[in-house]
Amino acid sequence: MTSMDIFRDETRDPEALAYVLGIRDAVEARLLQVLEGAGDIPDNLTAAMEHALIAPSKRVRPVLLYLIAEPDAKAEDAVLNLCSAVEMVHTASLILDDLPCMDDAQMRRERPTTHVAFGQATAILSAIALLTRAFGIIAELDVPPLVRTRLAAILSKAVGHKGLAAGQEVDLNGRNGLTDETEIERLNWLKTGVLFVACAEMGAVFRDMNSNETGYVRDFARHLGLAFQTADDLLDKSVDPNEIGKDVNKDSGKATIVSLYGEHRARMTCLEHIDAAKLALRASGVRRAPIEALMDRYLKSKIKFDEE
Ligand code: IPE
Ligand code: IPE
Ligand code: MG
Ligand code: MG
Ligand code: MG
Repeated sequence: MTSMDIFRDETRDPEALAYVLGIRDAVEARLLQVLEGAGDIPDNLTAAMEHALIAPSKRVRPVLLYLIAEPDAKAEDAVLNLCSAVEMVHTASLILDDLPCMDDAQMRRERPTTHVAFGQATAILSAIALLTRAFGIIAELDVPPLVRTRLAAILSKAVGHKGLAAGQEVDLNGRNGLTDETEIERLNWLKTGVLFVACAEMGAVFRDMNSNETGYVRDFARHLGLAFQTADDLLDKSVDPNEIGKDVNKDSGKATIVSLYGEHRARMTCLEHIDAAKLALRASGVRRAPIEALMDRYLKSKIKFDEE
């Protein structure tokens, strides 16, 4: 069984799922194009970037962005480039998260982690290179300058000291102070929620949504991100590493909803966020079927709700 097989599930809407998987394939094809070959940079560095990026992955964040943007033929090229930028940012965060000084993981996306395969120095450089390439892609987008600026501002805020970086800091150095569910949800928000919301917001920019609609898609993505991180924490406890293509038990000893309150409560929290996400999605006016197919495949089938 490969890591992607665990997410294969009976679907209520095969057409919507096929559409979603088609977007994932389009994003993957675009990733290779926009990464740019080695050229005059060291082959080893590009190889490390590709090792991390062009590997089996759900591509949830870029697919979400695309589904919210729902680009017409004219906008599709720019949206796919933006999707690639988002995936590069996410991949960079995974390379760093796996380092010995962070989660010290050996396997990621069914492969040895980037530092195991290429050494720590090259892994760190590949993460920096992916991050910077991501912002380069945004700078080159064929959209009005004001749109480019807004997109760069949204993504940089999500990655920096008020987003992912802050989440990792709390995750690694501040967890002992976390004693209740609200504080853990705050951590999950920083680690995972902010990037989901940034994807939704960038999709809303492309779609030219008004502030009311943008509020609903933000709310939707926040609940989705929180459900996703809680589900990931559940998987960390309950599956064989080969099933998800990455190390498990990396969060033992850390405060999570699972470790503080048990798996049942974590499942309930996850389910509540899924329901809240669906409500906000309904209000947002975004086409629901593909997004619900994405949620069914990568969230609902992930957590065994029927077990207890
Ligand atoms: C892993 O992200 C990190 C979390 C926030 C849980 P994904 O579960 O989206 O991993 P990939 O991108 O499919 O490898
Ligand atoms: C990582 O959370 C979230 C990031 C933003 C990288 P985890 O440490 O739980 O992610 P995995 O389980 O290693 O993918
Ligand atoms: Mg981590
Ligand atoms: Mg980790
Ligand atoms: Mg995890």
